[in-house]
Amino acid sequence: MHNQKFPPKADFVQKAWINETQYKELYAESMKDPEHFWAGQADRLTWMKKWTKVKDTSFHKPVSIKWFTGGKLNVSYNCIDRHLGHHADKVALIFEPDSPNHQTQKITYRQLHTEVCKMANVLKKLGAKKGDIVTIYMPMIPEAAYAMLACARIGAIHSVVFGGFSPDSIADRVNDGKSKLVITADAGYRGGKVVPLKDNIDKAMAKTPSVEKVLVFNYSQEKHDMTANRDVYYHEAVKGISDQCEPEEMDSEDPLFILYTSGSTGKPKGVLHTTGGYLLWASITHQYVFDCHENDIYWCTADVGWVTGHSYVVYGPLANAATSLIFEGTPTYPDASRFWQVVDKHQVSLFYSSPTAIRSLMREGNDFVKKSSRKSLRVLGTVGEPINPEAWHWYNDVVGEGRCPIVDTWWQTETGGHMITPIPGAIATKPGSATLPFFGVKPILLTNEGQEITGAGEGVLAIADSWPGQMRTVYGDHKRFEETYFSTYAGYYFTGDGCRRDEDGYYWITGRVDDVINVSGHRLGTAEIESALVANNKVAEAAVVGYPHDIKGQGIYAFVTLKTGVQSSDELKKELIQTVRQEIGPIASPDLIQWAPGLPKTRSGKIMRRILRKIAENAPEQLGDTSTLSDPSVVQDLVDKRLNR
Ligand code: WTA
Repeated sequence: MHNQKFPPKADFVQKAWINETQYKELYAESMKDPEHFWAGQADRLTWMKKWTKVKDTSFHKPVSIKWFTGGKLNVSYNCIDRHLGHHADKVALIFEPDSPNHQTQKITYRQLHTEVCKMANVLKKLGAKKGDIVTIYMPMIPEAAYAMLACARIGAIHSVVFGGFSPDSIADRVNDGKSKLVITADAGYRGGKVVPLKDNIDKAMAKTPSVEKVLVFNYSQEKHDMTANRDVYYHEAVKGISDQCEPEEMDSEDPLFILYTSGSTGKPKGVLHTTGGYLLWASITHQYVFDCHENDIYWCTADVGWVTGHSYVVYGPLANAATSLIFEGTPTYPDASRFWQVVDKHQVSLFYSSPTAIRSLMREGNDFVKKSSRKSLRVLGTVGEPINPEAWHWYNDVVGEGRCPIVDTWWQTETGGHMITPIPGAIATKPGSATLPFFGVKPILLTNEGQEITGAGEGVLAIADSWPGQMRTVYGDHKRFEETYFSTYAGYYFTGDGCRRDEDGYYWITGRVDDVINVSGHRLGTAEIESALVANNKVAEAAVVGYPHDIKGQGIYAFVTLKTGVQSSDELKKELIQTVRQEIGPIASPDLIQWAPGLPKTRSGKIMRRILRKIAENAPEQLGDTSTLSDPSVVQDLVDKRLNR
């Protein structure tokens, strides 16, 4: 059962971009001569000036990653202007709002061109220019995509902050990039609830001295404040603005965007992606992994606040002149049939979502699915976390009625796009496996000591050589980039994931091996949540670990030691959850908080997370050796009072 294989169906293979033989040939070519291979593939983009060197990369210190050196292009030109010849009247974006009673929108490539040019001119009018960092904090509406593309058009670097992040998190990100301009909306909607975006921005702006202007979309008509001399309504700024804006000529290695993501230590880091390699990667993976053809209607349910929204709502599909659906809502509003209603309404053929969404819908039963037709569906994808075989089968059997290949795509914010993934006409799938590497990706399994594992086996996952979509640096901290990704195993890009390779060479991601947890497909650093908890002055110390959670994949388990004299209570638990929501955002709320009179520590004072993880997983029998602890007795108390039984 575990090794059950689902080969591509003959009729699918016939029309697919890539079949098994082509995959093998192209993959082999990409390994043998990457320069030659990628020089050929780069033709899918339109360059203003051709590059002089394809690949100039080193994973040894000083780490340096450059692709298509000397090449010039503009991302917004590649996503819009060049399609105006044949696809001006093709729908570029479909907008489906949170409420099914609100107005759907269809935006053609011609309209997209007009909107993006106008917005680019507004950004210029507000003083933004090439190289500036513009922060975007928006609901999932077409204007979010316009804002990203408008930045790309004038050569500004966007930094999108997910709408679920708190004012403190916004402020950290704005300050890291010293943004002068912020783009937001009055409010957005999710699952019938108002998301007070402008209020959050106002709170954040108390801590962001660099910000000069806040551009505000009047989307919701919800009540909000405007600050004189700082806040500008878009509908006012755009009056009389030209709908033509020449795209800026950008170097292949000029930054396109920064996106903050969590790691093992410290604050989230600004992952920096550049222009040529990133767009090539987003575009080629989008076409082949979803087998996207001319008439497909493609829908990725991710928010543009995450990398999936960058690469697979905006840049990949638009670079390919595809039709991409933007959905503001949630899977269960007004009820658990919403996804499938939207699929039918817009005749979606390629659908991409997360295991968490699949699991939460699976729990609601099959009736919600069955009352839709879903005949339009051709390919189903997942991303963000391992998909358990049960959810995989439900997706395959109930949602896809066995007709649609499942693409379980493994990748990271850092990788820019898909890395290990089925190509649906080429690679037989196995439930729970991300299968085989994409072109140009050379996965390596290593032991903890850094020995390479060949053949079948399990270890940590690293990548042996650069690929065009790879992040180039941590914004403002190249040393941290080198330390985080290239120091653990010299000469390799270290992913932070554990992985097993089976006898067929298939890859099975087993989850993070570092102090990162993956809650509903959202990456969170345990250190971040700990520092949010100790921000409450009643807390002396906190240790956070992940534990298996039926719906979210992983839940957040916090062990909290209170300051002497502070009484524990359920109210205090609520207060601590509030503290975390304030410091980071609702996605980081602990699921379980256990009071810990003491935490297990080594004699040198290091918290033994291994032990806490076992307690949180309700596996006290696997605690292992606790004799090296400075005070072994604390463990028994934690075991006795553990919450996840
Ligand atoms: C996890 C999301 C198993 C993994 C695009 C990775 C997955 C982290 C999969 C990156 C998958 C992503 N199977 N695990 N198909 N896709 N992951 O940066 O642990 O938000 O390191 O990027 O998600 O999360 P990030």
